[in-house]
This record gives sequence, C-alpha cells and structure tokens, in this order.
Amino acid sequence: MIISPFLKATAAALGLFTSAYALPRASHSKSSVADAHPTVPIELTLGVKQVPNILNETAVDANAVAKGYSLLNVTATPRGLTGLLSLKGATNIYGYDFEMLNLTVEYQTSDRLNVHIEPVDLTDVFILPEDLVAKPKLEGDLESFNFDESDLVFSYDVENFGFEITRASTGETLFSTRGNPLVFSNQFIQFNTTLPKGHAISGLGESIHGSLNEPGVVKTLYANDVGDPIDGNIYGVHPIYYDQRYDTNTTHGVYWRTSAAQEVLVGEESLTWRALSGVIDLYFFSGPDPKDVIQQYVTEIGLPAMQPYWALGYHQCRWGYDNIQKLRDVVANFKKFDIPLETIWTDIDYMDSYKDFTSDPYRFPQDEYKQFLDDLHKDNQHYVPIFDAAIYVPNPNNATDNDYKPFHLGNESDVFLKNPDGSLYIGAVWPGYTVYPDFLNNGTQEYWNTLFKEWHERLPFDGIWTDMNEVSSFCVGSCGTGRILDNPAHPPFEVGNAATTYPLNFNVTNATEWSSISSALAATASPVAPQPSSSSVSIDSKNTLAPGRGNINYPPYAINNAQGDHDLATHAVSPNATHADGTLEYDIHNLYGFTQERAIYNALLNIDNEKRPFIIGRSSFPGSGHYVGTWGGDNTADYYMMYFSIPQAFSMGASGIPFFGVDVCGFNGNTDMELCSRWMQLGSFFPFYRNHNYLGAIDQEPYVWEAVTEATKTSMAVRYLLLPYYYTLLHESHVSGLPILRSLNWQFPYDKTLAGVDNQLFVGDALLVTPVLEPGVNYTKGVFPGEDAVYYDFYTHKKQNFKPGKNETLDAPLGHIPLHLKGGHILPTQEPGYTVADSRQNPFGLIVALDNNNAASGKLYLDDGESVNVEESLYVDFVASNSQLVVSPIGEYKVEQPLANVTILGVEKAPKHVTFGETKIPFKYDHKTIYVTGLEQYTQQGAFAEQFTLSW
Ligand code: NOJ
Repeated sequence: MIISPFLKATAAALGLFTSAYALPRASHSKSSVADAHPTVPIELTLGVKQVPNILNETAVDANAVAKGYSLLNVTATPRGLTGLLSLKGATNIYGYDFEMLNLTVEYQTSDRLNVHIEPVDLTDVFILPEDLVAKPKLEGDLESFNFDESDLVFSYDVENFGFEITRASTGETLFSTRGNPLVFSNQFIQFNTTLPKGHAISGLGESIHGSLNEPGVVKTLYANDVGDPIDGNIYGVHPIYYDQRYDTNTTHGVYWRTSAAQEVLVGEESLTWRALSGVIDLYFFSGPDPKDVIQQYVTEIGLPAMQPYWALGYHQCRWGYDNIQKLRDVVANFKKFDIPLETIWTDIDYMDSYKDFTSDPYRFPQDEYKQFLDDLHKDNQHYVPIFDAAIYVPNPNNATDNDYKPFHLGNESDVFLKNPDGSLYIGAVWPGYTVYPDFLNNGTQEYWNTLFKEWHERLPFDGIWTDMNEVSSFCVGSCGTGRILDNPAHPPFEVGNAATTYPLNFNVTNATEWSSISSALAATASPVAPQPSSSSVSIDSKNTLAPGRGNINYPPYAINNAQGDHDLATHAVSPNATHADGTLEYDIHNLYGFTQERAIYNALLNIDNEKRPFIIGRSSFPGSGHYVGTWGGDNTADYYMMYFSIPQAFSMGASGIPFFGVDVCGFNGNTDMELCSRWMQLGSFFPFYRNHNYLGAIDQEPYVWEAVTEATKTSMAVRYLLLPYYYTLLHESHVSGLPILRSLNWQFPYDKTLAGVDNQLFVGDALLVTPVLEPGVNYTKGVFPGEDAVYYDFYTHKKQNFKPGKNETLDAPLGHIPLHLKGGHILPTQEPGYTVADSRQNPFGLIVALDNNNAASGKLYLDDGESVNVEESLYVDFVASNSQLVVSPIGEYKVEQPLANVTILGVEKAPKHVTFGETKIPFKYDHKTIYVTGLEQYTQQGAFAEQFTLSW
C-alpha cells in the first residue's frame, strides 16, 4: 500500500475505530410522558468483555504446544490421494482435539487442487452444505487425471504431518505447513504456511486496509455491523488470498471454503489461518497471472450478476429524505442544475416506524408515493428503497401495532430464527424488538416471495438496498424475549446530530396524530449520561473449553471482533441462535447476508422473471456477487476514507463483486465542498456510483456547492459518454469473473514496484484514473507503467511523455480528475443523455488510442439492458492496425442509433485522406489526432449494422 503521510496522519488522528451509532442513549425502559415508547435498556447491549487472543500476551501459542498428527494409510487415487491423520497427543488448547482425521487431496482441474481434512467422526462437526455455498467442481474425466497437466505438486511428511505445494514450472514452494503442527479441535482449527520474505499478499476482505496485507496484519473474518474501522472486521467475509511472487512472476490463490469465524495472521515469513468451526476445505488456484487466479476463483464461487444497464447511472441517496416532497425537490434540483440523476433512493425514513414492507402513512402516503414513482418512471428514472434484515415483532396489546402481517405470516409459517429452547430469537433493530428470517428454512423463500410481491404491487420499486444483514442486532442475545410488550422501542443510542432529526414520527401510531411528532422529538433531546461500553465481567477463555459442539457463545479462542467488548453477540445475532435444521448461527454467521440476498434475488425474479434483479447489499460472502452488488458501508467524510475506497474496490473485485461503490462524499460526519468535489469525481469511475450520507449530516447533493456541481457534471459527462464501455466491462465480468476496476499490479503483474499501489485505478484495461486524495492541493502524483506503453490525456488527447518507474506529477486543480487512455485500446462511446435510457438513444462514437505499433483493439457488448435470459445480443470487435480500423459486429441485437464520430489518437503523420469503406470523408487532424465526425450519413441503419473499415 502506498499511503501519503497526510493520509496516515488523518487516519491515526481519527483512531482505529469509528462507529456509526456511537452515542449511548439514556436507559429508560419505562415510558416518559412526552415519549410514549421505551428504549431498549442499555444493559442489554453489553456483551461479556473478551480479551482477543491476538492482544493477549499470556495466550498460549498453539504452534508451540500442539503435537500435531501423523499420516497413515496413504492411498493413491486417480486424482490424488487419501490418508488418515492420527493425533499425536491431545493438547486441547482452544478446543477438544479430534483423534482421527480424513485427508483427501484431489487435483480437480489443471489449475486447481483441493486439500480436504475433516474428522473421521463427523458428529458435532459442521459441514458447509453445497447448496448453501458452491463447491468448486471436478472437471474432465472423473476417473483419471494427467498430473503433468497441473503446475501444482503436492508433497507431504508422514511422521509430523505437514504438506507442501510447489509450482512445478518454477520449483518454488507456494504453500507449506511443514514444521508447524496441524491443530484440529472442535472449536479451533489452525494451520500455517511459510511465505517468502517480502511477500505480496492481498485479499482476505472485507476490510478497510491498503491492498497489501503486510507483515503484522491480522484479518478477522466475522461479518460485523460497524462503521468502517481501519483494519477491523466489517460487513463482508472473503476467505481467499492472492500471493504474488515477483521472483518467478507468478501468482496463486488460496481459498478456504468455510463460513466459520476466522482470523488470519500475516507474518514476515508466515501466514497463520484459524477458524472456530467446520473443516479444512482448501482450494489452490495456480494462476499464473493475478487475473487468471481471480477468474479461476470467481468462476467457481459464482460469476457476477449481469446488472441492468440503468444501474450504471448516477444514484442519489441520503438518510433523511423523510417525505415525498423532499424526494420530489431533490429530483427537481438535479434537473434544475442539469446533473444526471438515474435513481433516487430512500433510507429507513420512508417506513412506518422502521418496519419492513411498510411506508409511513403521513409522510409517504400510498397514493402520493405511487404517483411519485410513476412520475419517475415516466422520466426513465428509478427508485430504490432500503430494506432491513430484521422483522418487527408487534405488540399484541396494541391492536394497531399488532396489525403487521410480515411478522404474523412468518410466525405462522415458522420461518424465524430460534433460541436453543425453540422459542423465537428476538433481537433489536430500528423498529424495536425484532425477529430474523431463517434462510435455511424451506418455507422462507415462499414467505419472502409473498411479501415482496405484495409490496411491489403497492409500490413498483426498481431494486432493493439490503442493509443490516450481517446480521445486526443492537442488543446481546434474545433481548426481546419477555419484552415485546415494550414495542415499539427506541434503539439504545442516539442517532443523528440534532435531537430534531431522529426519530421522526417514532411515537406516532395510527392512533396518534402527526401533530404529536414534535413532542416525541423533544423527548429524544434529553441529555445522555455516559454509559459503559460493555459489562465489567470479562471472560478467561481457558475456562470455556467444552466438549461436543463446545461453548458456542464464548469459544475458547477469542477473535478480535471489532466491537468494543469483542463479544461475538455484540451488535449481531448471537452465535447460539438456531436455524430450522439445527444449524447454529455460530457456524454460518458469515452467511446470513449472502443467504438473505439470494432470497431477495429470487423474490424479485418471482415478481418478474424477465428483469434482472438490482440489489445492493452490505454483507457479502463468496458467491454474493452472483446475486448482488455491494457498497462499502458506513465510511466517513474524510480524505483517508476516499483513499481506502480504492483498495476496498480492488478487494471486492477480486472477491467476485465487481459492482461496487462507496458512499461518495462520505457517510459519517459532515463533508465539505472540496472533499465532495474530489469524491464525486473519483466515485464517477466506480461501477456503482452513489452519494449517501448520515442522518443529521449536512446536505451533500452535488448541487449544494457550485464547484461540486461543475466537477460532477464534468465527470458525469465522461461516465455517461463511456456507458457502452462500462456495460461491456459489466458483461465481461459476468462471463469471465474479471473485475471492472483493476489495480496496477494486476495490469502489470511482473513489476514489483507496483505491488500495493492503490492510489490509482484502471477501469478495464484502457483507462487509468489518478485521483486527488488530499486537501489543499492542485496536483496529484501517479505512475504510468509499461516499458513500451503509451498514455494519452483523456481530455486533450495529447500523448504523454511519461517514464515508467517515475512518479509523475499531474495538474489537478479542483474540478479536474486526471484520466489517461492507455494506447492499444479502442473504446465505444455514446453521446451522454440525462438518463441512461436517453443516452441509449444517442449516436455512438469510437475512441481509438494507438499503441507504439500503431495498433489497438477493443470490443462492445450490447443487449436490451434488462433481460435475464438474453435472446438477442450484439458483440462488436474493433481492430486497428496498418492505418485501418475494422469494425466487425456479430449478433442479433439491433442498434438503431448511428455512429457519429471516430477519434484516432497517436497518428504521427497527417493522413492524406480518410475513407469510410470506399468513400473519402472529411476529417480534421490536430495534435496527432484524427477527428472524423458526421458519420451518421453512412450509418443510418445503425452504428453496427454491418462490418466496415475506416482507413487513414
Ligand atoms: C446503516 C447503513 O450502513 C447506512 O447506509 C444507513 O443509512 C443506516 N443503516 C440507516 O438505515
């Protein structure tokens, strides 16, 4: 990671952890006169203080103590071997050791090897079902494998079992557990691999960190609802790392297919991987280039969803759009300032007291709400509401409150998570005490389908934003058990900056009037006494060893969960919550968001099976990208967070989630003109482009500041011009698994100086963005690699004199984001319109950026932009060489719009003439660029109706 001293200082000044909802609320479980509703008592939010093992100086080092296993009965199989591992002596450090383990080594394809280790006796062992998380498949002849086809060689030690994977072509060791004992117990599995000194390890997201996991980094993998702390565990979990070797110019990947809570310690020359349940199911991908590894991995976990074309438009959101008129005003303001707006979003404000599937009858009356959506749709714009994971438990003593079908239907269908005693697990989120749909229950999809369909009939939304699905709960354990008569209850902390901002309308039931809101608001203004952040009791993990499934809520090994007390149940549903088939949340906590997103995807298809579901989720797991895009969660309106959005995007891309973006201009805290201007420009290059912020923060729509308006319009003009390029990249991702945003070291994998460069980003292979990531400057710096590479300034078309290896300084006054075209590429464009649909009506163009050999190539993919099963598509190949551009379309999808212009960069000598087919056509030549315009007359049948040649 390259991080400027400025960014380092800011991040440090802000402390390691920031939390979105940090202020404790006064604990009053009884109603006050002014505020009719109680608050979830603060004591219910306090976990049991854990001392994370990695911070505990007296913690036992399992490597130093464990005795490991010896390998018996090794038997060759057509695709590898099997064997039996026998425990050499129990040490039961963080769990009870298993005596006997089965080892299976399998060459699954020429580039993938699987090492699987599981206890012989599987009683009390969680096995991750294949229908939950895809299992990489065997390919080819199942009965035999030509081992020479693989570059991976497996070897092992028998007496003190350890294994090693080497690369045949280079002889280097890629992975070796030799010399360290395998630890395999009911609540703690650990293995180590050696790493070369000076390694370049990336992956192991989701976290706020530079793209390299340098020595000393500990990655905690446990889905967590927390406001983007640096280095802490956050929303998604992606147990895959990429290991780039510069001495041999190869990269391989290692994926542990497990949903367990995990921790990965990266050392100078080692990597230690720990999990709190499950089995070892390791996949080694041989690459050899980083992009090969990404594709090998993503193809197996599930190729990314093809997003609807309109998803590439600009999205505006904020927490605080709390009535229809505000939404109408925002939409009108965008028009007024002529800033493209594709989609307007609402946060929890639209709901009736924060209950899913409802809308507030006063602020979002059904008919006005529906009219608003109809009006948007007429203008080719879209609407996406937030959806929270938990379902409100109504108060049976209040007839109006009790009239809440989502709870009753789910309860009758028995689809909610349970306590171990079979009672409902009741946590707490925004509306008060809540239950949680159990996506392992066979009835949940139908329940979901019914509710989503009915909701959509009332309100034809265009997609779903799914939040709080880690899955979050504001209290520890089933805190609502015995308390539902207190519902609705306030969350146990203050939200927003001013008391007047939250909770709007919170105490209004159908029985109360809108006029009573002000008294409710006044009540929330009461001063707040400081509260302890966790209970004073702390647990000594040595006392929590237990046989069988072990101590589920307080496992002996305490991960460094980024919540104040590190309790696994803090701000999350407790590990002992139980699913329909008996599966414990402990084993699949990391999967909640993934299973929920998949169910929403299916529910949306059930509404309309011909339209691609558009879903933006928060929590993710391997395979999530097949269903959703994600956003980066609760970042902060500061420069260091803008920087971190880049490595976060790379990491999500390498995790199979290319459709990613962050809260542009920043979520927590107040942004300012300069930051927002820079961020609106940087964000415009992310596949998902949305501005969103916190309730109580100042407005930050791009029209709030004149300079931001201008900067935004400039960048959006580029983005919308490039929509065909972006759509083609979306499709490339969808069929190949390649990310859309690409790091420099993926593009130039053999240049070690680029390892960890994450202040610049490639969009596809052709565009290099070099943003400004700090305040008060009018320049930025970047590198432009490739010995023979040519870069052109995107705006002036001028060829640059960059030297590879040199840090170039670029002019970047406010409002300008440096953007370069890499020679060798051809980009399809389309004249920008106000919306994506408008843009698609406009003429096409081509930008041809020649390389040093006067050659370039590119492609275009198009279809109707929304079908699930695409029947008609268009693939166009562009090839330029020898002063000729050949455009070759294939496919049935018809484009009616003509081609208007072709711009050819890097033409050393002015051409005598330019011909379209056989016809000489007018052109301009300026600064080594040929500008051809007015091509409409030759392409009336559609830009890509037939093959054509343009020569110069
Ligand atoms: C947490 C989400 O991350 C944030 O984007 C949203 O505004 C709040 N929940 C309120 O719904």
